[in-house]
Amino acid sequence: MINGQSEPVKVLVTGGAGFIGSHLTEELLDMGYRVCVVDDLSTGSLDNLKQVSSNPGLEVRCFSVNDRDLLLKACKGVRYIFHQAAIPSVPRSISDPLSTNHANVNGTLSVLVAARDAGVKKVVYASSSSVYGDTPTLPKVEEMVPNPLSPYAVSKMAGEHYCAAFTASYGLATTSLRYFNVYGPRQAADSAYAAVIPKFISLIKKGKPPQIFGDGCQSRDFTFIKDVVRANILAAQSPETGAYNIGSGMRISLSELCSQMLKMMDRTDITPVYASPRPGDVLHSLAEISLAKIAFGYNPLYSLEQGLKATIEDYE
Ligand SMILES: NC(=O)c1ccc[n+]([C@@H]2O[C@H](COP(=O)([O-])OP(=O)(O)OC[C@H]3O[C@@H](n4cnc5c(N)ncnc54)[C@H](O)[C@@H]3O)[C@@H](O)[C@H]2O)c1
Repeated sequence: MINGQSEPVKVLVTGGAGFIGSHLTEELLDMGYRVCVVDDLSTGSLDNLKQVSSNPGLEVRCFSVNDRDLLLKACKGVRYIFHQAAIPSVPRSISDPLSTNHANVNGTLSVLVAARDAGVKKVVYASSSSVYGDTPTLPKVEEMVPNPLSPYAVSKMAGEHYCAAFTASYGLATTSLRYFNVYGPRQAADSAYAAVIPKFISLIKKGKPPQIFGDGCQSRDFTFIKDVVRANILAAQSPETGAYNIGSGMRISLSELCSQMLKMMDRTDITPVYASPRPGDVLHSLAEISLAKIAFGYNPLYSLEQGLKATIEDYE
């Protein structure tokens, strides 16, 4: 029951067996929503939903969002769609741009068509800070002209354009959230395409040196998963549409991040190794977050230290 209504409100989380989608699913269930997860398990795992697997409000359907008939059926009676499903990696998109395009661009179009046809009230779309590319201006502000540099960034931008086009053409409310480097418990650590924080934790735990691509001066705005989850729910409940940065509003260089993590994990005996910069990686990234604050009250609650502590503890 939400807001005094007798029937629980149904929502759909695409990519709900992934890192961000599973945290979002947990929180939505906690809030009393009925949650349908659609995931093809290409990068996600049902293990991520272990903690809520016996919750009667959860339904899990394993198929691709590109399966339009099944998706339309799953969207029946759904109020909000949280569209997280994607192949979420810059390097992977560089080695295989076609599969990234299929999952991310065709997949988003398929979700929007199903949302339109099923009368869904709002789609919240997981976009990415990568759409800004390597423009030197910091912080990144939503009104800047996007400059996607990798096939992944192009796919995320195309998804945003499709969202805006569905709002303009069919009146379907959509909000794109440009996530800045999300991290937290359960983020995959051991794939070749793992994000930097879980990769560092996993290597440090094994007593191995973390690897930094480039000189380590490149900086990122790291956003704790719980802040991203709240941003999604606030955006869904708000009448505002459009694209918004979701970050912490702070940045740290990768060398500093690494030394902070080594200290927190009591392994200052380890020194990182440096490798050539990776193609497609941007140099600096920092979000201006005031637009999301004004539009739907987004306010990050977790400092990097608090977030890292929770993440490291989870790997213990
Ligand atoms: N993690 C980050 O820092 C970050 C930053 C910016 C944007 N994003 C975006 O957030 C979303 C979630 O990312 P994540 O980090 O949780 O990644 P993840 O790989 O853990 O989750 C993605 C999920 O989508 C599923 N999926 C992929 N293709 C699918 C398809 N065709 N049909 C159904 N399910 C499919 C995967 O199996 C997986 O469970 C992605 O859209 C990603 O582009 C993530």
